[in-house]
Amino acid sequence: MTRNIARKIAEEYKEKFRESRTRHERLIQYIPGGATRSLSYFKPFPIHISHGKGAHVYTHEGHKLLDVTNAYGALVHGHGDPDVVRAVQEGIEKGSQYSTPTDGQYRLAKLLCDRVPGFDRVRFLNSGTEATLFALRTARAYTGKDKILKMSGGFHGTHDCVAASTKKNVITAGIPTGMTRDMLEVPFNDGEAVEKAVRENASDLAAVIMEPFLGAGGVVLPREDYLQRVRQVTRDNGVLLIFDEIFSFRVDTGGCQNLYGVIPDLTTVGKVVGGGLPIGVFGGRKEIMDIFCHESTEKPLYHSGTFNGYETVMQAGFAAMSKFDGPAVASINKMGDLFQERLVHSFRANGLNIRSNQIGSILNLHFVNQDIFTAEQVLNSVEELHGLMHLSLLNRGVFTIPRGLFILSTVITEQEVLDLGDKIDETLKELLPLIEEKYNHLLL
Ligand SMILES: Cc1ncc(COP(=O)(O)O)c(C=O)c1O
Repeated sequence: MTRNIARKIAEEYKEKFRESRTRHERLIQYIPGGATRSLSYFKPFPIHISHGKGAHVYTHEGHKLLDVTNAYGALVHGHGDPDVVRAVQEGIEKGSQYSTPTDGQYRLAKLLCDRVPGFDRVRFLNSGTEATLFALRTARAYTGKDKILKMSGGFHGTHDCVAASTKKNVITAGIPTGMTRDMLEVPFNDGEAVEKAVRENASDLAAVIMEPFLGAGGVVLPREDYLQRVRQVTRDNGVLLIFDEIFSFRVDTGGCQNLYGVIPDLTTVGKVVGGGLPIGVFGGRKEIMDIFCHESTEKPLYHSGTFNGYETVMQAGFAAMSKFDGPAVASINKMGDLFQERLVHSFRANGLNIRSNQIGSILNLHFVNQDIFTAEQVLNSVEELHGLMHLSLLNRGVFTIPRGLFILSTVITEQEVLDLGDKIDETLKELLPLIEEKYNHLLL
């Protein structure tokens, strides 16, 4: 019976997305796994999208799907936002990149420094991964210390230093074992653990790097006062605090640091800040960032990159961020709250003891029967149910991130949020017999 549920969902998916399968089979001849980003792959084969418009994407089969991935959070105004498109078109006609300082860099840098409390000065690069790499290098160069402390379940991109982990569940093949020598790790949301580690390692510890809430790690929100405790202990011990706001920035015009009123020494942002084009930004207090200043420093820290401050990206980012103002953030966050309300109601109505963690426009559903405060709890979520829910939602016309992560854009309507809630409700009903048979710890 329950095996039939899984088979039915998979068969329907295969039937509905035949063109995607054909394209997948064509692509694997040239790209291993048929995906150039590990996360884009899922079984039995990923969907292939032909184009997007507003809150929807369209597959080659002609299916219109509500897109609640929004490019893993990089799109905040949906696909083909007219202001972003105009900025790119007008910009690129004048030339895309000059390798000089530009007005676009000035405008976007000023906007970010005006809005984000932790930014006195910023520098641009091309991805979040590069941003955290340079934030760490800056912290090490400024403090003259080598060690970095990160939180279990925190995600900071794919460069060796942050991809290396002292935890067993992270695949670290290819990363030199020496990489973890200078990395310390403590559980997220454990104030005592971070205080102890910072005090004991203060003389070698350059920085604590953390997301204000675990994003990719399951949208795990900070306990009350936790961020304040980390801020206090780092400040008291001469250790820099880096907030990686590459994902969390979208919850407020000035990022999570503005929302929680906790100001780090260095900050990284990316994703939405490029208006959907590739970007990374790191910055912080003037006296730290002056390490790059050619005018006040004899030998500034070297930071280069062919595409840094790419003018078209600056223009797209400025267009997107200009309209990501107070009312826009309030409106998108209200949609997030409505979505959360609808889901909690559905869980209860279906007799399910499961959770969804939400902040602003970001929500993660977990097949876990207790409130979630740690990355370890997220790992207990039932993978089989996530996989089936993902395919079942695709069958119903909803494109989501397989691990239950939903990210809204400013163009989603209230009705679309309610319909999304209904489709998740239908999916949970479809999965209920399986849950009753195999995962009854998730029943009320
Ligand atoms: C918090 C955080 N840091 C860093 C990154 C890496 O950014 P990118 O994928 O642009 O390299 C991500 C990406 O998801 C992220 O969520």
